[in-house]
Amino acid sequence: MDKLIDILLDEKPAFQIQSGNKDVASSEALLFEASALDTSGLKRTSAALPEKSLRYLDSILSPGQVTIEIGGGQSTVLFASKVKKHYCINPDHTANVLIREYLESKGYNHDNLVFIEESSDLAYLKLSMDENIDVALLDGNHSFPFPMVDWHYVNKYLRSGSYLLVDNVEITAVKILTEYLNMEPAYRLIKRVYDSSRYDCYCYEKILDDVTIGWKDQCINQTTLARLSLRTMATKFTQKLVDLINIFRKR
Ligand SMILES: C[S@@+](CC[C@H](N)C(=O)[O-])C[C@H]1O[C@@H](n2cnc3c(N)ncnc32)[C@H](O)[C@@H]1O
Repeated sequence: MDKLIDILLDEKPAFQIQSGNKDVASSEALLFEASALDTSGLKRTSAALPEKSLRYLDSILSPGQVTIEIGGGQSTVLFASKVKKHYCINPDHTANVLIREYLESKGYNHDNLVFIEESSDLAYLKLSMDENIDVALLDGNHSFPFPMVDWHYVNKYLRSGSYLLVDNVEITAVKILTEYLNMEPAYRLIKRVYDSSRYDCYCYEKILDDVTIGWKDQCINQTTLARLSLRTMATKFTQKLVDLINIFRKR
């Protein structure tokens, strides 16, 4: 029997709303602050993780894990088929029903799958999990500041040894997050998946439970400190120069 990952890659089930057309200009705008939205009248497409990223995700999942993802689709099918418990934050109610039906059609029980059908920024306010998360995938709304907000709340549940996958690093609003993570001592970049010249997915291992708080101590702000001391030096120098000029003028 084929593995589920191969079936997914072969069948490419369409779970996401088609956008960029006259019905839906932007699916992210449609789902913004939405709650359990019935999208059954809309056309569907697959905006799934590309093959290499989906295969990489498959390779790090195992039966004892508790996992979470922002956004849903083929990755949700994979998570639910492999782990102990999976949380999926996705306000698209119709997509979530399709995901359950797909799992059922392949003979998978989905009692381990918990959908939180809210726009992620609203979902976190209600989210209270008593477990730590072993693997998290950020692949929901990619517009600023969602990647940072998603990371901030998910990070609270990640411990040393947890994995964090960030998809679509090619988008600047996502890249800003990875620029921070690349410098943060609590995270170690362990895998860059380049699926084509277009799509990048990064995987980080959390290696310390807590991230650095206090802007002066954060690596990402060290250039700020250097810039500020240069500015102070330049201001002092200019003042000295003005004082000297005034002295010469008075003579
Ligand atoms: C690129 S797709 C995810 C693809 C998925 N990882 C897969 O492999 O099929 C983006 C997802 O984000 C969801 N989404 C859009 N806006 C969201 C929001 N504000 N909060 C949570 N999810 C959102 C969409 O419904 C869609 O499922």
